Amino acid sequence: MATVFEQILDYANRADPYPLYRQLRTTPVVREADGSYVVSRYRDIVALLHDPRTSSRDVVTLGGFISTDPPEHDQLRRVMNRHYGPPDTPGRIDRMAPDLLDIVSGLIDRWSGRTEVDLVDDFAYPLPVTAICRLLGVPVEDEPRFHAWADAIVEGIGPQASPEAHLHAGDASAEMGRYFAALLDAHQQMPGGDLLSAIVTDDRTRNAMSRAELLTTASLLLVAGHETTVNLITNGMLTLLRYPELLDRIRREPDFVIPIVEELLRYEPPVHMLVRKALDDIDIADTTIAAGATIRLVLASGSRDPDHVRDPDRFEPDRHNLQSMGFSPEESQHLGFGGGVHHCFGAPLARLETQIALTELARRLENPRLLADPPPYRLNPVLRGPRHLPIQFDRVR
Ligand code: HEM
Repeated sequence: MATVFEQILDYANRADPYPLYRQLRTTPVVREADGSYVVSRYRDIVALLHDPRTSSRDVVTLGGFISTDPPEHDQLRRVMNRHYGPPDTPGRIDRMAPDLLDIVSGLIDRWSGRTEVDLVDDFAYPLPVTAICRLLGVPVEDEPRFHAWADAIVEGIGPQASPEAHLHAGDASAEMGRYFAALLDAHQQMPGGDLLSAIVTDDRTRNAMSRAELLTTASLLLVAGHETTVNLITNGMLTLLRYPELLDRIRREPDFVIPIVEELLRYEPPVHMLVRKALDDIDIADTTIAAGATIRLVLASGSRDPDHVRDPDRFEPDRHNLQSMGFSPEESQHLGFGGGVHHCFGAPLARLETQIALTELARRLENPRLLADPPPYRLNPVLRGPRHLPIQFDRVR
């Protein structure tokens, strides 16, 4: 008999794993046969994300500072923060808004004359790679190469990857690394307004971060920000098409997209689980997690924990609306971007990109509707999202 966690991994349950998460929470910490522990309640997940006895080293396989622990992690992240967001340079991401709108509009313009598209291949997939290229200052003419590398790398990670896909991903990563090395030189000689130029021309940064670390960080931004954002946009449009009155509300009230995106991160998050390693015995929820064990934090379950949020299975954007009455501020907190020291570095970009994408789709598509519900999902249970989202509309405005 398969355990609840094994059932969650089973592709047959990919379209709707939420009833299984509910079942999982009845035993908040479960030890699986392979010796790993599965943690499913909001408060326990938050506690472990903030616990210095949990490590990301050797278990998070993306490379870069996401796979390091403090103090090394904090030093690298601080260096990146200096040029990315507050307090030194508020607004790098906000300043990207016109560019993002341009990219989104360009993708939708291509649909004129059509009444059917695949929202994944024709929209959500190309958008995040282009956005990260702009952030890092990759010349527009080189962007197609990034799309190919990103595809290969994404295909090669995760438990479902074939040995060939794995090899292909390694080649793509190496090629991308060589490209970034040349790009860093070019930015150093002729800096632009982008993030990499800001970092390579700042002595404080160069002293604090080796060239190798900078190269891995550039790759990390591409990989961490790619499929996650694809899934948020796709899950977003899927949810809005299931509740079309929300699409109308975005058209009438553009700021409403802000709580919509927050609620999506809670209700249909792109990242369902994170992995950590216990550095010591850890007592939690009447269980002792043994030192050395793998810990699986089921974020998507924690964000729907009824002890944390009322009516968790209802899609209710107004719970994130600061002006709204009746919801407590705690309820608007979700685990969509993780928590603790590794809280998503790309969150401001991911939010802005998705807000602009959903607003423009709502505004420009006349009478959009789903062609398949549920749509076909990707195999991956961790980065969960539709592989295709075929939609139909009367015309593009
Ligand atoms: C970390 C989710 C978009 C870069 C994380 C983590 C989550 C997450 C859950 C925590 C990982 C952990 O604790 O092990 C998401 C979601 C996104 C998104 C749902 C889109 C909707 C992005 C984008 C970028 C990015 C666009 C790049 C610009 C990163 C980086 C980390 C991270 C660098 C590691 C942070 C650290 O270790 O301090 N993300 N992410 N993410 N994310 Fe995102």
